[in-house]
Amino acid sequence: MTKYLITSALPYINGIKHLGNLVGSMLPADVYARFLRQKGEDVLFICATDEHGTPAELAALEKNQDVETFCTEQHEVQKNIYQRFNLSFDHFGRSSSHQNTELTQHFCKKLMENGFIEERTIKQVYSVDDGRFLPDRYIVGTCPHCGYEAARGDQCENCTRVLDPTDLINPRSAVSGSSNLEIKDSKHLFLKLPALESKLSAFIDEHEAEWPIVVTSIARKLLKEGLRERCITRDLKWGIAVPKEGFDGKVFYVWFDAPIEYIGSTAEWAEKDPEHRNWKEWWYDPKDVRYVEFMAKDNIPFHTIMFPATLLASGEPWKKVDYIKGFNWLTFYGGKFSTSQKRGIFTNQALDEFQPDYWRYWLMANAPENSDSSFTFSSFAATINKDLNDVLGNFVNRVLKMTASKIGPAVPAGGEWTDVEKEFVRVLQNRIADYTKYLSEMEFRKALVELRAIWVEGNNYLTAAAPWTVIKEAPEKAAMILRLALNVIRLYAILSAPVIPETAEKIRKLLNLENEKISWPEDGLAEELKALPAGHAFNVPEQPLFQKITPETVADLCARYGGNPEE
Ligand code: MF3
Ligand code: ZN
Repeated sequence: MTKYLITSALPYINGIKHLGNLVGSMLPADVYARFLRQKGEDVLFICATDEHGTPAELAALEKNQDVETFCTEQHEVQKNIYQRFNLSFDHFGRSSSHQNTELTQHFCKKLMENGFIEERTIKQVYSVDDGRFLPDRYIVGTCPHCGYEAARGDQCENCTRVLDPTDLINPRSAVSGSSNLEIKDSKHLFLKLPALESKLSAFIDEHEAEWPIVVTSIARKLLKEGLRERCITRDLKWGIAVPKEGFDGKVFYVWFDAPIEYIGSTAEWAEKDPEHRNWKEWWYDPKDVRYVEFMAKDNIPFHTIMFPATLLASGEPWKKVDYIKGFNWLTFYGGKFSTSQKRGIFTNQALDEFQPDYWRYWLMANAPENSDSSFTFSSFAATINKDLNDVLGNFVNRVLKMTASKIGPAVPAGGEWTDVEKEFVRVLQNRIADYTKYLSEMEFRKALVELRAIWVEGNNYLTAAAPWTVIKEAPEKAAMILRLALNVIRLYAILSAPVIPETAEKIRKLLNLENEKISWPEDGLAEELKALPAGHAFNVPEQPLFQKITPETVADLCARYGGNPEE
């Protein structure tokens, strides 16, 4: 039997993420993992915080904390937010773990042994007042091409020209503003990507037909331009030490050790529980593992070239990705989410405003799969009000209340299904087949269109069957209709659970089914819709499952987060 290894791009540690980060990696990975688990598959879902690199150091500095304390704190902050979103990671690790340190150093040694590492001396900018080397983008100065005064050492934001820090006029440190800079020689390790080009090309070929175009086109473009040696070490204090003589005080480049943490986090997962001690079954020459990665498009070069290169060059049988689900950008009113300009809504703020399932539902229904998609509060409100309130919520409330008030708070017996019921079940069966197919293919927008249609079918059936009228003349028949409708509620809880797990759980509680194992209805829907037997007690909701978002609330949200109520 196939086992599914699922990883989501590791969120960077330097601050709380916005909704775009969530929908571009962790959330769809969670929906997929939950779906597969419900189908009875063996799933391992791994994530972690990505903790190394200069941005982490600088964020810590800004908070007057040492980096380690900062990372420990921020890891907890992020972990907590993802728990509140009900992201069902088997493990949410840290790239600064001892497991990742050992693995990263192991890979480096293997790569050296196999001749894929070259040592070079390069010129680095050292800031005397900051007491540290500065990465290119932390040196600012005047652009020699356009005169822009705040150009960064890697690129001028104004004229977009690529720069070298030595090109800048009046260069200074972006950390302290000091212009007391020196150029020093420094030894570094380079990964010989050109030597791996044919292997990487074959690896991409192998998957070309299956992978999304956004993924293969980026990989192809890089291969076509020709790969260059890539520096995998840095002159920084914070990071994983380079296990080589003469490299004291240097660490690995964050993008070298971050993907290795997919493996590292699995090892951390194993350390927590002796039952998982065979964790290498997932990674090292595994049998029957399908490995799926989720990420936004800026991460694709690292996952199609860099990380596979590391694994290939090790000469060891490490598991390489089978499928990459890449995402475009979620924009905020067509523009960038921006912390500094207070534009957009961050994951913690989102949870303070509404229950997680509102966000999960909107984000998955509007996932930036084939192109960018834009978040607006009006669209958010419209979707929640229509799909969750009017369609799903209304069906559940209507059926439970009506049955309880007209018959009593238990599933009624009722008579046989008529052709109307048989047709309704047939239609549902087809839609469920499509929904299942789209989820298997990770076509999330299409899947959510189907899920909504499945909910709509329930309302249509109820309107057509009109138990509230039928009950006067034929109480047996009305009981049959309501019994089916109650079973449909149970079915909705099962089918909706990957996307809106908290709501699914609420519904299951209403039906006194919280201990029932959730499976996935494949065939035999007719049987599935008889699962709730006559006499099974249920509860009437004290409050509706969802609340509508009013235009006043939309206006208020726009005022606070920088949106436009007219858009
Ligand atoms: N932290 C990176 C980002 O936010 C993603 C790292 S993914 C991994 O873009 F592969 F490196 F782990
Ligand atoms: Zn310029």
